[in-house]
Amino acid sequence: MPGDTADVVMFGPKPIIEEALTKAPGLQLHKAWAASDQEAFIASIAPKVRAIAAVAGHGPVDAALMARFPKLEIVSSFGVGYDHIDAKWAGQHGVVVTNTPDVLNEEVADTALGLLLCTVRHLPQAERYLRAGNWPKHGDYQLTPSLRDRTVGIVGMGRIGKAIARRLDAMKVPVVYHTRRPTDVAYRHYPNLVDMARDADVLIVITPGGAATRNLVNAAVLEALGSDGILINVARGSVVDEPALIQALRDKTILSAGLDVFADEPSVPQELIGMENVVLLPHVGSASIATRRAMDALVADNIISWFAGKGPITPVPETPVKKP
Ligand code: NAP
Ligand code: 8YV
Repeated sequence: MPGDTADVVMFGPKPIIEEALTKAPGLQLHKAWAASDQEAFIASIAPKVRAIAAVAGHGPVDAALMARFPKLEIVSSFGVGYDHIDAKWAGQHGVVVTNTPDVLNEEVADTALGLLLCTVRHLPQAERYLRAGNWPKHGDYQLTPSLRDRTVGIVGMGRIGKAIARRLDAMKVPVVYHTRRPTDVAYRHYPNLVDMARDADVLIVITPGGAATRNLVNAAVLEALGSDGILINVARGSVVDEPALIQALRDKTILSAGLDVFADEPSVPQELIGMENVVLLPHVGSASIATRRAMDALVADNIISWFAGKGPITPVPETPVKKP
């Protein structure tokens, strides 16, 4: 490997990753999106491409795409979630997939807590009230629900779930959690999500997306959460049955929701936009300058490390590779 030139392809712009890959000795970056005829361009480079630097917004990296590159060795993806990549197929075909875990834990946990507080205490609605000139005209903003006396059920207690739980500990808010297998935390584990929803007053969803979690939060879970219940989703839109959520908000089956993610981003259902009892963010969980830089750097570093013969830095479980 060292000594050869390794051809890397990207399907959309991401300046910091592009710069790092362009500067790295021994790598040749191909910018597929910049070609006038992308299909012809991809066909012309396909026989020599050994790496893909992937971003969810640049399109899915599915079996059909990866199969076009017979020499493909590594897909280095931006973001900790990699539901846009067929990692199982990659593992079966000797292609390593990497993601960007850990460098975003604290940022996403901060966002989750901000979204929770905004949703419970109506902070965006209260700000809109002030900006609209309603305070002097109509007096104080209405009293709101409270985080006090609520138990939060975290759906997914991995790297980010634990960072969220630590923040709730500091705020003296009791935490319970649901995962498939209990993990190394002292909080009560619920093997059944409906049971947890019945006992909790807030659900914060922070699992991976993909087939295994599709519509995990369904009508039955929302019904169990109840009319004083609040749903916060910072995971993936696919984890919540969006039509069931809209129905539950409309019927007041639950009280409110705070959503950073949606089923068909960047489209957000007009029904949600029209509701006052929801707080909506455009998938900004990790979106600070510093954290996005760290994620960009890790995408490039995984490719650089791989072609330096040092192995991937952060391979996903479906494609485990031991460092040499
Ligand atoms: P992680 O460390 O792998 O943790 C995932 C957790 O989800 C684990 O506790 C896992 O436990 C649980 N889980 C997985 N499948 C499940 C299922 N079918 N049912 C119940 N629980 C399940 O991942 P992470 O680093 O914390 O990231 C989690 C996810 O957050 C990412 O994959 C991504 O989708 C999302 N995310 C969103 C943003 C944003 O901007 N909004 C930013 C970063 C990440 P078990 O395996 O035991 O079930
Ligand atoms: C990214 C995310 O912004 O890491 C993740 O899983 O959802 C976000 O941090 C997203 O992947 C952008 O493509």
